Amino acid sequence: MRYAELYERSVTDPQSYWAEQAQLIDWHAPFSQVLDASRPPFAKWFVGGQTNLCHNAIDRWLETQGDLPALIAVSTETADAAPAEKIYSFRELHAEVQRSAAIMLSLGVTRGDRVLIYMPMIAEATIAMLACARIGAIHSVVFGGFAANSLATRIDDARPKLVVSADAGSRNGKAIPYKPLLDDAIRLAKHQPRHVLLVDRGLAPMTLVQGRDLDYASLREQHLDAQVPVTWLESNEISYILYTSGTTGIPKGVQRDVGGYAVALASSMQTIFCGKPGEVYFSTSDIGWVVGHSYIVYGPLIAGMATIMYEGLPVRPDAGIWWSMVEKYRVTRMFSAPTAVRVLKKQAPEFMKKYDLSSLKALYLAGEPLDETTSQWISSALGVPVIDNYWQTESGWPILSIARGTDDSPTRLGSPGVPMPGYKVRVIDESTGDTCAANRKGVVVIDWPLPPGCMQTVYGDDARYVDTYWSRFGGQQVYSTFDWGIRDEDGYYFILGRTDDVINVAGHRLGTREIEESISSHPNVSEVAVVGVEDKLKGQVAVAFVVPRNADAVATPQARQAFEAEVMGVVDRQLGTVARPARVHCIGLLPKTRSGKLLRRAIQAICEGRDAGDLTTIEDPASLQQIRAALAG
Ligand code: PRX
Repeated sequence: MRYAELYERSVTDPQSYWAEQAQLIDWHAPFSQVLDASRPPFAKWFVGGQTNLCHNAIDRWLETQGDLPALIAVSTETADAAPAEKIYSFRELHAEVQRSAAIMLSLGVTRGDRVLIYMPMIAEATIAMLACARIGAIHSVVFGGFAANSLATRIDDARPKLVVSADAGSRNGKAIPYKPLLDDAIRLAKHQPRHVLLVDRGLAPMTLVQGRDLDYASLREQHLDAQVPVTWLESNEISYILYTSGTTGIPKGVQRDVGGYAVALASSMQTIFCGKPGEVYFSTSDIGWVVGHSYIVYGPLIAGMATIMYEGLPVRPDAGIWWSMVEKYRVTRMFSAPTAVRVLKKQAPEFMKKYDLSSLKALYLAGEPLDETTSQWISSALGVPVIDNYWQTESGWPILSIARGTDDSPTRLGSPGVPMPGYKVRVIDESTGDTCAANRKGVVVIDWPLPPGCMQTVYGDDARYVDTYWSRFGGQQVYSTFDWGIRDEDGYYFILGRTDDVINVAGHRLGTREIEESISSHPNVSEVAVVGVEDKLKGQVAVAFVVPRNADAVATPQARQAFEAEVMGVVDRQLGTVARPARVHCIGLLPKTRSGKLLRRAIQAICEGRDAGDLTTIEDPASLQQIRAALAG
C-alpha cells in the first residue's frame, strides 16, 4: 500500500489499522479491545491481550532461525589489536537471558519490581534488559555517562529492588569506573536497593558491600541450565521506565507499556526501517537512550534481525571502524545521529571507500536536526538513501520520517519527513492554539490519542503527565512536543528547535535547569544561567553564565580559569561529563525581567550573534552588555 493511503487509514480508522499491525507480533491471549479511549489523555492499547517483549524478541525466532546471530557485541575499547567480538545466536541469547532472569528471580525480583541498569555497552546490559522483560520486571536503564546525583534521583524515583552494573566502562581505551559512582549514588539516595549485581570486566578494582553486592559471573555459574518461562503480561502492564529531561530540574520517568510498544516497533521495522528476518541492523546509539531501547534492543530483534551493540568511538582505531563492521557483518540498515556523521566527515571522509558497503540499503539519522551539508555528504559518500527521522523519548518510535517500506516517497532536504502512521501531527500558533498556515512557524503538536508505543504516563505521577504534555493547548486533547516547527505546502515538516529549556548536545537531550541546579551547589556561585548555543559539530553546546558570590575570588584570568574548571568538575561529578558546559563565564548580573524571570532566549540570542529580541520588560539593560563582554573576553 502507498504511504498516503496507509497514513490516511491509520488516522481515520485507527482501530482496524492497529488491529492489523498487531498481527506482526505473537500474542499469548488475544486482546478484547484495540483501544480504550475512555479516559483522555490516557490511551490503552490492545486491552486484555497477553504478550511478552522477550518472547517476541527471542523465543519466537528459535524455531525458524535459532542458529542465526541475534546479538553481536563488538568492543574496540577492551581489545588490543582486532576489536573484541561476542556473537550470540538466538538460541544462545535465549539461554543467556534465562540465566540472567534466573539470577534476578533468585534475588527476589518479581513481576512489577523495578531493576535499574547502569551499564556500559556490553552484551550483559542487553541481556539484563531482556531478562527483566522475560519475568515482567520493569527495567530502568540509566545512561553510563550520568554520575552520582543523576543516578540517585533516578534510584529514588524508580525505587529498584535490584541494580545491575559493572566495574567500569571505557572510553578511548581508558577505564571509567562505574562502581564508585554507583556507591556514591546509593549513599545519596533515600531508597536502598536490596542487591547490586556486578559484572566484573577486570577494568577497575571494586570494593563489594557485604550482603548487598554480588558477582554476576559466580551467580551465572549456578544457573547455567536455567529454564525460565516467559511471564505473560497484559498489554498495558509496564515494560520500562526511561528518564528524560524537561523544563524542571527533576527528570521525568517516561513509562511504557508492553503490547502497544511491541506492535509499534514491529510496525515501524516494516514501514520505516524495512528490516527483514536474518538481516543485520546496526544502531550506533547507546542503550541508555531511547534509540538504544527501541532500535538496538527491541525493534531489530522483534523483526528477527541480528542487532549490533558497539562499545567504542566512531574514530578509533580510525574513522573506518563502523564501515569495517558494515562490511564484516553485512549490515543492511544502519541508524546513527548527525553529530557522529559530522565527526566522521571532519576526520577522514575517504574511509568508507576502503570497505565493501554493498549490503547497506539505507542510513537512518535522528536525535537532532540534520543539516543539508551533512545529509548530502553522507548520502553521496555511501550511495544509499539517508532517512532523517524525528521523534522523542516520549514517543518511543518515529513521529516524522519517510515510510520507505510503503513506497519510494522522496525525502526533502532539511525535513525529517511526514507523519508516520497513527500520528495526527499539526503545527499550531503558540498563543491562539489555531493550526498554522503552510510555512508558518508554530508548536508541533499531536492530536489525541497517540498511537501505540508512546508513553503511558510519567511514572508514578499521572498529574505531571497531564500538566506537562496535555494542558497547554485545547483542553486535554493535544500533546505538545515542545518543538518549534513548520509544515510546508506539501505536508513535509521542518523542526526548528525546542520551545522549552531542553538542549540537545550531540543528540543527547539535557535539561538546562538540571545543569543550573548542579552548578548552584558550588560554594562561590550566587546565580547561574545555562543556555544551549549553536555549535557546528555538536548541534548545540551548553554555556553557563555565573554570578559569583565573591567576585574578588575570580578577579584575575588565572582565578577565573581555575573557577571554570571547578564548576565543570562539579557538573562532571554530579551529573556526568555528558552534561558538562563547554564554557563557564563569570558576570556581575544576569539579564532578568522586572518580575525576576531569567531572559534565557535573549542570552542565547546574544551567544549566537542574533538580535536579542523584545527587551521591553528587562530590569537592567546593562546585564546584556555584561554577557557580550564576557563572550568577547
Ligand atoms: O527536539 C527534538 C530533537 O530531539 C528531541 C527528543 O530527544 P530525545 O527524547 O532524546 O529522543 C530522541 C529520539 C530520536 C526532540 O524533541 N530531535 C529528535 N529527532 C530530531 C530532532 N530534531 C530535529 N530533527 C530530528 N530528526
